[in-house]
Amino acid sequence: MTVPLIQVEGVVKKYDDRPTILDGVTFSVDGGAFVTIYGKSGCGKTTLLNIIGGLDRPSAGEIIIDGLRLGEMNEDGLAKTRMNKIGFVFQDYNLLQDLTIRENVSLPLLLSRKKDGKRVDDLLRRFDIEDIAKVTANKVSGGEAQRAAIARAMANDPKIILADEPTGNLDAENTQNVIEMFQLARREFGTTIVLATHDEDIAKHATRSIRLVDGKTKD
Ligand SMILES: Nc1ncnc2c1ncn2[C@@H]1O[C@H](COP(=O)(O)OP(=O)(O)OP(=O)(O)O)[C@@H](O)[C@H]1O
Ligand SMILES: [Mg+2]
Repeated sequence: MTVPLIQVEGVVKKYDDRPTILDGVTFSVDGGAFVTIYGKSGCGKTTLLNIIGGLDRPSAGEIIIDGLRLGEMNEDGLAKTRMNKIGFVFQDYNLLQDLTIRENVSLPLLLSRKKDGKRVDDLLRRFDIEDIAKVTANKVSGGEAQRAAIARAMANDPKIILADEPTGNLDAENTQNVIEMFQLARREFGTTIVLATHDEDIAKHATRSIRLVDGKTKD
């Protein structure tokens, strides 16, 4: 039996005196899947992605990434796991505005002390941002910025990309384009994608979509 790449087991998240956000969420994601987590605003999508990515800890339950139990790790261990296994993509791109597109895409390699060069060239080409490689991030369009953010998330060749509402600021054409870029990442690099969205149409592009309602999942 193959072990799933991501295991979410009985995850609960609750803040003091507030309604429970996640109420025992359990599912697993196989390597190479494109999973969407969808549900209305406030249902806990960002909270869940942050817990899966080790940016936040659950009140109860467990996340296992590629056989590693996040709950047993200290902050350094979590940071290392994030760097080696996970790429993050956000709604507002989170590019460093004064750096060029190429420098933004190279950043994870710099941080993990790997050489850039060919890998970055390859990503710039595949994600169709070669022409703007030398332009600073504050001068590119939203669609271009998000393609650069996906390329950056791919720089360290992570097994997993966690994308939080990545098309939330884009028009229909750029939304379609960005979805195609995730599909490209999955097809060409075998990357596993977990994408949170409130948009049911986007959920349809996934190999599996998981609906989050009242802190629980529905397939
Ligand atoms: N640090 C916090 N302290 C208390 N409550 C929080 C905290 N962070 C999030 N929440 C609450 O948790 C709930 C879920 O928030 P979350 O951001 O995960 O929802 P979401 O599904 O991502 O929404 P959206 O679609 O608007 O991005 C919300 O009611 C929010 O107010
Ligand atoms: Mg959110």
